[in-house]
Amino acid sequence: MNKSKTLKSDFFRIEWHKVLPSTNDLLKERAQLGESAGTVIVAEQQTKGRGRYDRHFYSPSKGLYFSVLLRPNGVKASDSGRYTAMAAVAVARSMEELGLLPEIKWVNDVMLGGKKVCGILSEGAVNAEGELDYVVIGIGINVVKPKGGFAPEIAGLATAVFDRGTKRKVKRVLYSVLNNLEELYDAPNEIVCDEYRMRSLKKGREIEVIEGRCQGIATVLGITDDYKLVVLQDGNTY
Ligand code: BTN
Repeated sequence: MNKSKTLKSDFFRIEWHKVLPSTNDLLKERAQLGESAGTVIVAEQQTKGRGRYDRHFYSPSKGLYFSVLLRPNGVKASDSGRYTAMAAVAVARSMEELGLLPEIKWVNDVMLGGKKVCGILSEGAVNAEGELDYVVIGIGINVVKPKGGFAPEIAGLATAVFDRGTKRKVKRVLYSVLNNLEELYDAPNEIVCDEYRMRSLKKGREIEVIEGRCQGIATVLGITDDYKLVVLQDGNTY
């Protein structure tokens, strides 16, 4: 990773914790109290890490769990899909800088060799004009394999960037992702969307859809400009 020894600007301010219940929960509380954009809360372990649909997010020690606070200007709540996508692309780019070949699994997972290496949870609040007041992007990366391996329920599904590593390696991954995120935050949506599509499930691939109007096996047709997955099932497009 070439850009990762330090942060490229002073936009992000990092607050490092050994253990927290959830970095997203703490940063959302702060955001509601007026914390300014650019704060990053990092934990090496979470005791109440959360994923989508309030699912538990396994967050053992020596991991990299962090949340980033953004306060975009004049962005409609309906355009909020961009933030999770931006984070997925930022993480994927960081892995490519390491010579790895990540894939984005719509909508919020980054995969290595078909196994999940990173999960993303973006949360926020909307003002009276229907625009985003703030966005908290939560990113959990298995930088190093946990001692004793992954928990049995996710052992076949999860992987890590490195087999072994030090805190320095974890910090480098953090800096790299933040540098990529800052670049993408300033980029037009077409760039983010193209990069997201490029690394996503390919057209024609069969997948199992578990939420929304169409459920079951379907064929991927693509991803819209606002990050919706389009699939074909029984001759119908969803
Ligand atoms: C998912 O896989 O559904 C998303 C997981 C998001 C996990 C990250 S770790 C940092 C932040 N804090 C949380 O409690 N969740 C997010």
